[in-house]
Amino acid sequence: MTDTAIAWDTYSRQRPGRRPTNARGETTWFNWTHFEDHGPGVELLGVEAGARVLDLGCGKAGNISHLATLGMRAMGVDVSAVQLRAARDRWGETPGLELHQAEAVAFLQAAEEPFDAIYSVYGAMWFTNPARLLPAVRERLRPHGRLVFSQRPPVEGCYGCQAAYIQRGPDEDPAVVKRWDYEPETWERLLAEHGYRDARAMVLAAPPEPRTVGTLIVSARA
Ligand SMILES: C[S@@+](CC[C@H](N)C(=O)[O-])C[C@H]1O[C@@H](n2cnc3c(N)ncnc32)[C@H](O)[C@@H]1O
Repeated sequence: MTDTAIAWDTYSRQRPGRRPTNARGETTWFNWTHFEDHGPGVELLGVEAGARVLDLGCGKAGNISHLATLGMRAMGVDVSAVQLRAARDRWGETPGLELHQAEAVAFLQAAEEPFDAIYSVYGAMWFTNPARLLPAVRERLRPHGRLVFSQRPPVEGCYGCQAAYIQRGPDEDPAVVKRWDYEPETWERLLAEHGYRDARAMVLAAPPEPRTVGTLIVSARA
């Protein structure tokens, strides 16, 4: 097992699963943000029932299982066995849902069929060097297929590869994973440089106080 997988297993054990229902009483739903019942939903992907969609860094699979319930061929990939165990315990019987344990770039390079949309919610897009992941995603998207991802916006002045810490026991050093933070206009430029079209990046404001850090949402077409 890689250090990255061990770090994300540690993270998984500290994170609760999704609530049983949302504010509308739904048992499955899509959320691009880390705030409850906030922001846009599945419409950002521009896909319908029958579409083949991939979640990079699906975690406990709340979002990708929702797409399966909408009749999509829904595939989630994650490097963490602990995340996927929780995902299978809750959503494993969902028709149309496939879950794979793999590193995102390796998974894309081995995939044979193209996807109609590929997305990532605070997932592998944030934690993988975009110089490796953007070409791998584009290679596996159908023409006009969408890449959409969300993550925390950058801290002003802190751009490019950053260290992110995952706490372990009181007497242990934290695990370290890398993440890539850029301003919206830098994401748009990077996507264009990798051959994507219609790249758009914006920061969705947080819900009213006390939270103030919003959500960076980026989308583009192959
Ligand atoms: C912050 S969690 C977010 C999980 C989920 N998308 C959500 O919104 O709850 C990040 C997830 O990305 C996964 N991940 C990070 N880097 C990855 C990579 N290179 N390949 C596959 N999964 C990765 C981690 O294992 C973890 O489950």
